[in-house]
Amino acid sequence: MRGKSPPKSDARPRCIILGSGGHGRVVLDVLVQANRYEPVGFVDSNRQLTGRRVDGLKVLGHPDDLPELRRLLEIECAIVAVGDNGARRELADRLDAWGFELINAIHPSANLARNVNTGRNIVVAAGALVCAHCQIGDSVILNTGCIVDHESVIGTGTHVCPGARIAGRVMIESGAFVGIGATVIQSVRVGYEAVVGAGAVVIRDVAPMSTVVGVPARQIKMAQEAREVRDWLLPELRRTEAEIASAGLV
Ligand SMILES: CC(C)(COP(=O)(O)OP(=O)(O)OC[C@H]1O[C@@H](n2cnc3c(N)ncnc32)[C@H](O)[C@@H]1OP(=O)(O)O)[C@@H](O)C(=O)NCCC(=O)NCCS
Repeated sequence: MRGKSPPKSDARPRCIILGSGGHGRVVLDVLVQANRYEPVGFVDSNRQLTGRRVDGLKVLGHPDDLPELRRLLEIECAIVAVGDNGARRELADRLDAWGFELINAIHPSANLARNVNTGRNIVVAAGALVCAHCQIGDSVILNTGCIVDHESVIGTGTHVCPGARIAGRVMIESGAFVGIGATVIQSVRVGYEAVVGAGAVVIRDVAPMSTVVGVPARQIKMAQEAREVRDWLLPELRRTEAEIASAGLV
């Protein structure tokens, strides 16, 4: 990490992007096109990338360097451009603790209804549509061309992939992933950290931490809690029942 503060060219707030991978490139493009903030560089957890240029913007260091970079470059604003839902939320929490202002990157071709409620550290990519009275939580990605219909709630740290379609009054709980081109019909709940596979059509609630695929969507991986109940709690209960029975207590 090195370098002096470049001359300030305009009045837009300067910002830094965490993550210089594929999603980082998308976020840089969204920020440049929206022209509300001035991106001054990336940071990336891969130290070997420090000093390289990604789409013309320099990787300035590691996320751990951010407090120092903030001071050196006089940057107040930042956004996390990391695809992994958990990592994105963790990094956002660190930025918050360091006193950065978490900004949103909303592409000019995205359309958000005027009464949509948005959190911080959100990316809304090109062509995304968000209809009336939706709530978009912190650290959400609404990716290219996705649709979120009226009164839906998109929980903290979720990712709605390109071309996914969320009908009205859907609840996507925190940390969930809705794969590319998936469809979720109205009033369904997708549980926290659930994964909806690419192209799936979800017609009923999805259990937390489970994975569903296909048309209509079926579960291929069980929620962690359900697995624990099956593998540990149920056998334990049966053993206890057997012990009670053999002791003649019932
Ligand atoms: C759902 C998904 C996460 C499952 O990945 P995984 O846990 O590694 O599962 P596997 O690849 O082992 O597949 C398990 C089974 O589900 C099937 N399957 C996996 N994804 C599927 C999908 N999207 N639609 C239909 N069937 C699917 C596989 O064919 C396999 O079936 P089999 O057991 O009969 O052979 C992944 O396939 C997927 O769809 N990811 C979304 C990718 C995406 O949207 N990317 C966009 C990023 S912006």
